[in-house]
Amino acid sequence: MSYRKVLLKSIAILAVLFVIRYLAKQVLLLGFHKTAFTHWPGPCRSVSPVEHGAEDMVLTKNGLAIITSGIDVAYRGDVTDPRISAAPGKLFAFNFNKPEQNATELEFAIGTDSEFSPHGISIWEEGSETRIFVVNHRQDAETIEIFKLIGDIAKPKIEHIKSVQDPLFTSVNDVLATGPSSFYATNDGYLRFTAWRGLERLLSRPWGSVVHYDGSEAKVVVGSTFEYNGMGLSLDGQFVYIARPFTSSIMIYERSSETNDLAFHQEIAIGALPDNIFVHPVTGDLWSGCTAIGYRLLAAFENIDNWAPSLVLRVRPLGTKDRPFEQFKVYDVFSDDGHIMSSSSSAAVVGNGLLIGSVMQKLVYCDMKVDSTLSRDTY
Ligand SMILES: *[C@@H]1O[C@H](CO)[C@@H](O)[C@H](O)[C@H]1NC(C)=O
Repeated sequence: MSYRKVLLKSIAILAVLFVIRYLAKQVLLLGFHKTAFTHWPGPCRSVSPVEHGAEDMVLTKNGLAIITSGIDVAYRGDVTDPRISAAPGKLFAFNFNKPEQNATELEFAIGTDSEFSPHGISIWEEGSETRIFVVNHRQDAETIEIFKLIGDIAKPKIEHIKSVQDPLFTSVNDVLATGPSSFYATNDGYLRFTAWRGLERLLSRPWGSVVHYDGSEAKVVVGSTFEYNGMGLSLDGQFVYIARPFTSSIMIYERSSETNDLAFHQEIAIGALPDNIFVHPVTGDLWSGCTAIGYRLLAAFENIDNWAPSLVLRVRPLGTKDRPFEQFKVYDVFSDDGHIMSSSSSAAVVGNGLLIGSVMQKLVYCDMKVDSTLSRDTY
């Protein structure tokens, strides 16, 4: 064989190997090989009147969950079922002290401009003041809406304070408050326009970022990321946890409390696609609403009647104070084939109560047989 032929043959073999590698990665990511099982931690039921998603949620110290509902990410090309885009953006409250009650819708106005398509949510509590931060996908911009939570737990109310907008907010997924008007935000990508965003994702372009806004200016604290999603803050404020569904892992960054810069600390593989992260206020464990099977979620985006199996994981650190996740254990707390809970994305926990939210379907409450504050190896 001539030199030229050997070269061409080598290139062809490399190209084939490259395609096989790409396809294998996609098959693993989308979970074509996976089966959905159902396993509940106790009796579970859906919470009325939430029907069109509870993508993310936060919890106040006194046990009130605030929930974002009615996400519309059609502009990214994620969603094609028109029923998903038609659902209005809302905020709901759920009281863990009275879990038998329904969720209640919170009424508010964000200035004269009522565009509201909520995504990630965060909370800042200091003294008697509680602030709620919500990612809002407006038609022409990505904003963070800051609200004040008022009224008592039986009749919660919220009041809009301000909208924050910055050129560094390119395609915001989640927000994490670091003060009454400062926060981190994850950009899960760069381009907003559907077709180009699809291409950005298909080619795995690392055009996302994590930014910090200090109350007047935004700066990039982690650059060149790909599809970073929900965030959580460790109880001591030292670490920021970021869900990275496309690698089935959680990224851990060490945070400078002065500059809010983030330094890479560790990446932990959890074996499922995490969406949002809830840091348990007592134990510091990470509870994550996950996508159980990737391709089933894509099928649900196309037609909401295709159930997407759900999974809630609890990731328990077993390491030292400085390296808490040096060792860890992952518990499957809740899994469902999609009947009661389709497209799970978020969770919040108080004692035996587990609240689970979904991208575009229901809100579910489970009365767990085990108290989540116990550190016993029980799940
Ligand atoms: C919750 O709402 C449903 C209808 O949406 C109603 O039938 C039910 O009585 C309510 N439950 C409570 C405890 O208020």
